[in-house]
Amino acid sequence: MNANELRKKYIDFFKSKGHAQIQGKSLIPDNDPTVLFTTAGMHPLVPYLLGAEHPAGGRLVNFQKCVRTGDIESVGDLSHLTFFEMLGNWSLGDYFKEEAIEMSFEFLTSPKWLNIPVEKLGVTVFAGEEGIPRDEESAAVWKRLGLPSERIAYRPRRDNWWGPAGVTGPCGPDTEMFIDTGKEPCGADCEPGCSCGKWLEIWNDVFMQYNKDASGAYRPLSRTCVDTGMGVERTAAILAGKKSVYDTEIFAPIIQAITVKTGRVYGENEEDDRSIRIIADHVRTAVFIIGDPKAVTPSNVGAGYVLRRLLRRSIRHGKKLGVSGVFLGEIVCMVIETFREPYAELEENRLFILDEIYKEEARFLETLQKGEKEFEKLLPNLLKSPQKTISGRLAFKLYDTYGFPVELTEELARENGLSVDREEFDGAYKKHQEQSRTGAQVFKGGLADHSEITARYHTATHLLQKALKITLGEHVAQKGSNITAERMRFDFSHNSPLTKEELQKVEDIVNEQILRNLPVSMEVMPLEKAKSEGAVALFGEKYEEQVKVYTIGDFSKEVCGGPHAKSTGELGRFKIKKEQSSSSGVRRIRAVLE
Ligand code: ALA
Repeated sequence: MNANELRKKYIDFFKSKGHAQIQGKSLIPDNDPTVLFTTAGMHPLVPYLLGAEHPAGGRLVNFQKCVRTGDIESVGDLSHLTFFEMLGNWSLGDYFKEEAIEMSFEFLTSPKWLNIPVEKLGVTVFAGEEGIPRDEESAAVWKRLGLPSERIAYRPRRDNWWGPAGVTGPCGPDTEMFIDTGKEPCGADCEPGCSCGKWLEIWNDVFMQYNKDASGAYRPLSRTCVDTGMGVERTAAILAGKKSVYDTEIFAPIIQAITVKTGRVYGENEEDDRSIRIIADHVRTAVFIIGDPKAVTPSNVGAGYVLRRLLRRSIRHGKKLGVSGVFLGEIVCMVIETFREPYAELEENRLFILDEIYKEEARFLETLQKGEKEFEKLLPNLLKSPQKTISGRLAFKLYDTYGFPVELTEELARENGLSVDREEFDGAYKKHQEQSRTGAQVFKGGLADHSEITARYHTATHLLQKALKITLGEHVAQKGSNITAERMRFDFSHNSPLTKEELQKVEDIVNEQILRNLPVSMEVMPLEKAKSEGAVALFGEKYEEQVKVYTIGDFSKEVCGGPHAKSTGELGRFKIKKEQSSSSGVRRIRAVLE
C-alpha cells in the first residue's frame, strides 16, 4: 500500500464512522506563538480542543503537513525526517477512550482496512503519575479486543503523555500502538514502547483532558476530547515491509532525482547515502515551507532561519557528492511532482518556490566561490610548505572573511594532498567567538564586567528557568546562578536527575525562543506590582521597593538587575553540557551559548 492509498483509506474509514473530512492547515500556526511550525495534526485544532464549536461538528478527520526541527542534526539516518504528514481523527466532546480504541483497532486489523495481524500489534497505556490515575480503562478495552496482557505495557508520563504542542494548551494521557518487527527482544523487560527496534510506533490516541496554562498548571478541559496521530511515512514503510522511510515510494522519485543530478548511486556507500537522505529530506521540507499559503522565505530569524539552514545544509551535501554549481531545481520539481495531488499549493506556487530556492542557492554558492578563489591563490605556497598542513589560523581566516565552512577547506585540502590543523582552527574559532562577544561592546552604563556575553547569558538564564518550569513543573525555582564569559551555571530546586528527553525538551524550548528572536524589555515598577503581574522573583531575596522587571516577549517575566540582550536572537545556540546534583533537592545545569 502506498502513501496515497493509505491517506485515502484512513479518510474513508473515519468518514464511514461519521467523521467530517476537514482541510489540513498551514505549516505556520495561527494560534500558537510559542512554536515556529505546525508540529502535529491537532495544532490547528487547539481552540476546538479547548471548547470552541467546530463548524464541521464533533467528529473530524484529516491529513496535516507538519515540521519538527528538534532533530535536524539526526536527519541522514534511516528514520529521521523534518517534514512529515500526519493522519488524524478527532472527537470534540463526542466519543472517548472506548470508541477511539475500538476504531483504531478495527482500522489496523480489519482485512477491509490495513489488515495487520493482531499478533503483531502491541500497545502502551499510561501508568499513572502525579495524581492522574493509571489508565486501566484503556487497558481493559485492548484486552476485550483480543490483546494479551504481555502486549499491553504500562508506561510512565515520559512515554504516554502527549502535549501540549507548544508551551501551553490541551494535553493528556495516551495509548500508543506498535508493530512487532519480529526482532528478538532486547531483554526480559522488552515490551511495547521499548526503543530497541523491536517495536515500531504506528499510531497514538491521545485522551485530551487537561489544558496546561501559562503558569504551568493543568486545568481540566470543559469536555474530554480525543486527538490521534498516525505518521504517513512511517506507516507506509511498515506496511510495505521497508526498513526505512527513505525506501518507500514517497522518497523514491526524489532520491532518483538526486542520484541523476549527482551521478552517485543510492545504496552503495553509506556516507553518500547519508548525504542523499539529507538532501531528500531538507529539500522536501524547504519546498513545503516556501510553498505554504503563508510562505516563509530564507532569512536570519525564526522560521526563515530554519529554512536557510535546511537549504544550506543541502547545498553543502550536494558539494560533498561532487556537484558544482546550482543543482536543486530539478529535485525541487520532483518534490512538487510527487506531492502535487494532495497539496495543490505546491503546484500553484511552483515558480515562487523555484525562484526562492534558486536565489538562496546562488547566494550561498557565491560565498563559497569567493572562499575557493582565495584558497586557490594560497595553494602554491601551501604546496611548497614542508608540513603540508593548512594552519588553523588560515582556515579560520577563510571562514571569517569569506564565510567558507571549515569542512570545505578540509575537502579542498584533501583533494590537494594537504590537511588542516583542525585543533588550531577550533581554538581560533572559540577565541573569536568570545572576543566578538566581549570585545569593546561594554554594556551601556559602563559596567566593566557586564559585557555583552554576560548579558546574553543572563537572558539565557531566564529562558532556561521558564523552560524548566514548563518541562518539570512550577516547583522549579532558581537557587543560584553563576555566569562567566564561557558558560552559565544554574541551580534549581528539583528532586531527581533529568532524563535525556527532559534535557532535550528544555534545550529545544530555549532554542525555540532564541529562533523567535523575542524582544527583551525592561520596566521599573514597585515590587508588589511586579509580583501581581506574575513576574518570577527569587524566594527569600531582599528587593528594593522599586525593581527592574525584564520581560522576554510573551515567554518570561522576571525581577532581575540585568543586564540583558536586546533580543533573544543575539544569543546563538543554547546547549546543555551537564546536569548534576548540586545539593539535596537541588540540581545544577551547566550550559553554553554557541
Ligand atoms: N498529537 C498526537 C501526536 O502528535 C496525536 O502524536
